[in-house]
Amino acid sequence: MTADGKISDLWRSPARFSSAADKAHLEKQIASVEGVLFGAGTLRAYGTTLPISNPQLLQLRKQQHQLPQPVQIVCSASAEIDPQLPFFSQPVPRWLITTTAGAKAWQGMGEGSFERILVADRSPTEVKSEPKSIDWIGAFAQLGQLGLKKLAILGGGELVASLLAVDLIDEFWLTVCPLILGGAAAPTPVEGAGFSVQQAQRLELLSVERIEQEVFLHYRLQR
Ligand SMILES: NC(=O)c1ccc[n+]([C@@H]2O[C@H](COP(=O)([O-])OP(=O)(O)OC[C@H]3O[C@@H](n4cnc5c(N)ncnc54)[C@H](OP(=O)(O)O)[C@@H]3O)[C@@H](O)[C@H]2O)c1
Repeated sequence: MTADGKISDLWRSPARFSSAADKAHLEKQIASVEGVLFGAGTLRAYGTTLPISNPQLLQLRKQQHQLPQPVQIVCSASAEIDPQLPFFSQPVPRWLITTTAGAKAWQGMGEGSFERILVADRSPTEVKSEPKSIDWIGAFAQLGQLGLKKLAILGGGELVASLLAVDLIDEFWLTVCPLILGGAAAPTPVEGAGFSVQQAQRLELLSVERIEQEVFLHYRLQR
């Protein structure tokens, strides 16, 4: 994020403002998990995902009997995702978390689409108050049963807010980059309805590292 806490500009363009050191840091985090989860808005903005390409990280995963690439999991209630995006040509495993309605659009799409579609509907009363919603507790239970115990959540802010609200996030890594974007409509790491000061999730600072002009912060949620 920028020094003023924005993860993109108000046009929601892809956030390519961090350094090579931050990209390497992100790749290291991705290499330590079984699955990477991101919102459909993030996929629409970038069109691709970040695969692991560092030979040492690939070797380490091999030694640990892990797949070369973690599963790339997109979440989208609507599942309105362009199948022509370059993401669908990247050599990575692709899964989708969606609703029953969303899953219909991807049925029978065959090779090169999603290898697995997980449906996690909320109850009809919850859907009435929040139509674009996924049952995250149910979705994470399914992921756990499929062997995915540790996930990296790559954003955007809407997805992170939903997971925070149901207490499914353990740690935050934030890289503060030396620029200011401003703009009330520009997205931040956590969107959604927001929390009051009383409800706010409290964090414990685990580490701070400065590399050139960027600051790498590592937090754990206080339980
Ligand atoms: N700086 C960074 O590190 C960073 C990282 C990631 C993203 N970004 C930026 O963030 C922006 C994209 O963020 P965004 O606000 O669009 O957020 P997002 O969370 O990536 O995507 C929002 C979409 O994802 C789906 N989704 C998210 N949470 C959901 C939930 N709880 N239930 C059901 N569906 C859910 C919905 O898809 P459907 O509408 O299809 O149902 C929703 O419209 C882009 O500008 C991108 O550049 C920056």
